Amino acid sequence: MRTNIESLDWNAGNLIRSRDKDGRKTVDDVFDESTLKNIQQLFHRGVISTLENIIATGKEANLFRAKTLDGRNRAVKIYRQNTATFRKLEKYISGDPRFKSVGNNPRERVFTWAQKEYKNLHSMRASGAKVPEPFHVHKNIVVMQYMGWRFRPYPTIKELTPEEPETFLGLILDSIKAYRSAGISHGDLSEYNILNIREKPCIIDVGQAVPKEHPLYDELHRRDMNNMHKYWKKYIRELKLEDLK
Ligand SMILES: Nc1ncnc2c1ncn2[C@@H]1O[C@H](COP(=O)(O)OP(=O)(O)OP(=O)(O)O)[C@@H](O)[C@H]1O
Ligand SMILES: [Mg+2]
Repeated sequence: MRTNIESLDWNAGNLIRSRDKDGRKTVDDVFDESTLKNIQQLFHRGVISTLENIIATGKEANLFRAKTLDGRNRAVKIYRQNTATFRKLEKYISGDPRFKSVGNNPRERVFTWAQKEYKNLHSMRASGAKVPEPFHVHKNIVVMQYMGWRFRPYPTIKELTPEEPETFLGLILDSIKAYRSAGISHGDLSEYNILNIREKPCIIDVGQAVPKEHPLYDELHRRDMNNMHKYWKKYIRELKLEDLK
């Protein structure tokens, strides 16, 4: 059963105590024991001081809005440490020369995955692509720039169609060109992973992105561009796949 997690006290010192008080079961649905510990460690390191609200719950990860000690918002992506997550990630990790010596243990694999998302955010951002700024990675947790209002993330382009499709698509292509020039394929680019921030794009969900050396590099990019074409031709009738260069 999903829980009264809204009513939990997310402050550093109280997270564990709340769990004890409210009973193990409720919180365990959201955080396993080791994740709770990892969050505590982020509190202790001063990376974040509170978890504010849940932004999204997915199959592989949960997203929270958090606050730093000085009151800035952060997005905190917490990967689930289960075999389903680990299986899904596997094909994107093996073949990536950046992560050659990762352990076989599923939990360590998920840590590697978080590292991968963090590094991908860095490289894509360094290339000039519009992605959230990465701040910290620890075990199964990635802390990054929060893109949203107080209680709600900015909409995806699936939720809020851009007002001027040609202009918006042009901006996305600038970002794609940027990360391609750095030798990266996103690997899950779709209307679900592009935010519409006051008519400017921000690309998210980059855990599966792979570098040039990876065997899936070309195939993933081809799939991404097909997804883009399928979405954008609804708004730009004459758009051809070849135009998305
Ligand atoms: N940096 C961010 N700032 C604000 N909201 C974010 C941020 N990153 C992600 N989100 C929100 O969380 C949702 C899920 O994020 P993301 O796509 O990275 O996770 P996911 O678990 O891989 O999702 P899925 O498996 O559904 O693609 C996004 O649709 C968006 O609403
Ligand atoms: Mg997503």
